[in-house]
Amino acid sequence: MDDLLITTFAESANIANAADEVEKAVWSPLGFLNFSEPFVHYFDLMARYPDYQIAVVDRDRDYVVATGNLIPLYHDDPTDLPDGGWDWALRRAAETVQRTPNMVVGLSVSVPDAHRNRGLARIVLGAMRNLVESKGLGTPFLPVRPTMLEQHLDMDIADYAAWRRADGRLYDPWLRGHERAGGRMVGLCRSSMVVEKPVGFWETWSGQRYLESGKYPIAGGLAPVAIDLDKGMGSYIEPNVWFH
Ligand SMILES: CC(C)(COP(=O)(O)OP(=O)(O)OC[C@H]1O[C@@H](n2cnc3c(N)ncnc32)[C@H](O)[C@@H]1OP(=O)(O)O)[C@@H](O)C(=O)NCCC(=O)NCCS
Repeated sequence: MDDLLITTFAESANIANAADEVEKAVWSPLGFLNFSEPFVHYFDLMARYPDYQIAVVDRDRDYVVATGNLIPLYHDDPTDLPDGGWDWALRRAAETVQRTPNMVVGLSVSVPDAHRNRGLARIVLGAMRNLVESKGLGTPFLPVRPTMLEQHLDMDIADYAAWRRADGRLYDPWLRGHERAGGRMVGLCRSSMVVEKPVGFWETWSGQRYLESGKYPIAGGLAPVAIDLDKGMGSYIEPNVWFH
């Protein structure tokens, strides 16, 4: 821990830029997610709230090894967590920038491959919690990606999210990580990330041609892409799980 500095993008432009690069590299294989409609607000919101963007810096090497993104927003009833999850949070944050926030939503945790499995994500989750508490806004709400659902696309998200191993811990590693970090599963968001794009977009991302309408898995996707050749469109609707 001593060799790590936990800070925010507000600390310096260098840290913010380095963290931004880490985030882009980590998420590049899943870049199709950046085409959800509310994603247009993402960079504005990051720039507006640098003090809500966490960077973990390796002090010895002086570079960023993990990041965590949060956004404050106003919601009439924070106990009513919408089905729209991640997309909803971005949209709502953009709509309510002029209001005093009453909740904070965690959007992502990013750890580059070379630094995984040594507890950095857990450190980011702890830092998120401390930061939100220090702002007087309780504890963060997170629409969490159940990362291993990719291998169980035939399962309903309700059954998948509730799935526990023989030792009582959650089956999905990232949901399990959140539970272990003290989070509680408080609901589902069945349409957390929605990307609706022409068939050509999906062919470009998947490297596959779609000659028939149907549902097709996509690398990293937690739902299949539903291709409709009559409409010339494909839609991806990713379910997430609300944690608090
Ligand atoms: C998921 C991710 C953040 C985990 O980072 P990490 O630093 O390796 O995780 P940690 O070592 O702190 O482990 C924390 C928990 O995460 C879970 N985890 C570890 N590797 C994981 C992986 N590849 N995928 C999903 N969850 C993982 C584990 O359950 C672990 O808890 P446990 O020790 O109780 O089993 C990292 O793999 C990553 O950045 N992946 C790509 C982006 C992503 O999917 N982010 C999460 C959605 S926002």
